Amino acid sequence: MPEILVDINYSLKKFVNNGLDENSLIDYKEKAQKGFLKLEQLHKSGKIGFPEVVNQDISVFKEFAKKNTGKYNDLVVIGIGGSSLGIEAIVESLLPFGYNALSFSERGGFPRIWVMDNVDPHKNRSILRHCQPEDTLVCVISKSGGTVETLFNFNKVYSWFIDNKVENIHDHLILITDPEKGFLRKYGKENGIKLFDIPENIGGRFSVLTSVGLVPLSLLGIEIEKLLEGAKHFLNNGIEKALYLAAVYLYFMDNKKCINVLMPYTSRLGKFSEWFSQLWAESLGKKNSNNGELINFGTTPLKSIGAIDQHSLLQLFKEGPNDKHFTFIEILNHIFDKKCKDTISKDLNHFKGVSTGELLDYELRATELVLRKAGRPTVKIVLDILDEFSLGYIIMMYMYIVSIIGLANDINPFDQPGVEEGKKYINGLLGREEYLEFKKAFEQDYIK
Ligand code: PA5
Repeated sequence: MPEILVDINYSLKKFVNNGLDENSLIDYKEKAQKGFLKLEQLHKSGKIGFPEVVNQDISVFKEFAKKNTGKYNDLVVIGIGGSSLGIEAIVESLLPFGYNALSFSERGGFPRIWVMDNVDPHKNRSILRHCQPEDTLVCVISKSGGTVETLFNFNKVYSWFIDNKVENIHDHLILITDPEKGFLRKYGKENGIKLFDIPENIGGRFSVLTSVGLVPLSLLGIEIEKLLEGAKHFLNNGIEKALYLAAVYLYFMDNKKCINVLMPYTSRLGKFSEWFSQLWAESLGKKNSNNGELINFGTTPLKSIGAIDQHSLLQLFKEGPNDKHFTFIEILNHIFDKKCKDTISKDLNHFKGVSTGELLDYELRATELVLRKAGRPTVKIVLDILDEFSLGYIIMMYMYIVSIIGLANDINPFDQPGVEEGKKYINGLLGREEYLEFKKAFEQDYIK
């Protein structure tokens, strides 16, 4: 089983100016440990459930996928934030680029995948124009079961089925939601629509390894048991690494690095960086009162992709404000990687014998050195290959790290009051009775 490595050397004082010294590393590791113990308590008491996903019974997801394989040409996922980003992250990492352009047989009878996250007329119309209603399965995902964007899109897609005179519309629908509460649960129950539960103690951005991700991913033929094996391997062997990484992040958050850059060296992890950004920002961006003094906690996550951003952001990373901490993700063995055999000109002979993956590796090393020499601290996560296993591992690792950082700083990483406030104004503007006070507050405070 290939180990996932975490290399923090280039964040340490002995390698980089302004890095952490040994004593700070010990202190911050202790702080991380305190956060970890709090997480363990929340987990043991059943308040927080995401570590439990490795013990769930996935046979029902797999059976459902098996029954539906070959039946649909398109799968439309409707959800937003934690109810869509994780799915997109895994799809982009594991399915080939341009997957939707492959034929049905090239896809092995698995459907194309479309994610309707935004209420964007152009995007949503384009998605539906690609799909034939009779041939489409729609998976609506919402933990609360009441998110405006998701329900609005669900309503539109349902009308699209009606307009196209689809019989048995409910056979084309799956609803994934809270086991008890919310509109989707009620609607699904009343109308006999297939429902899957999201455990009550797992919130949106921590839910990708529950039915939220596992149902649509297994419908796409992704080996979901391997995602969970990777997550489990992290729980059994990776906590110490997560504590070191959390200690480094904690130190730099306290030491003026207000931007946290995640820079995987592969385009396959672009959406993963967006998933990470949501997890980091929504969990850690909190106001907190420390001995009566109000603190605005959190740092800003920034997605960057190697080698592409070496031709844009790297200039700022090296010579702009020294307010960033960097995490690289390196992949040692890239699939489809081949050495360059011939060159079209002798001027290009230095490419001979070099594979694309090797060049990507030189690019990463060059960036590491540029930043180290400029006194910019970095860490690196090294994966042997990018597959279900390693992805499951780093997903669980980051859910741990973010929780540890929040709890170590006495903030609640599992709520999102700012996001909820926005939802209330939208409901008010839509004229919902229960939110009229937000409509009034909006009319009073919003200055045109
Ligand atoms: O992490 C979160 O809680 C949020 O980002 C939610 O995932 C997002 O707001 C969507 O919520 P819901 O799944 O309830 O529709």
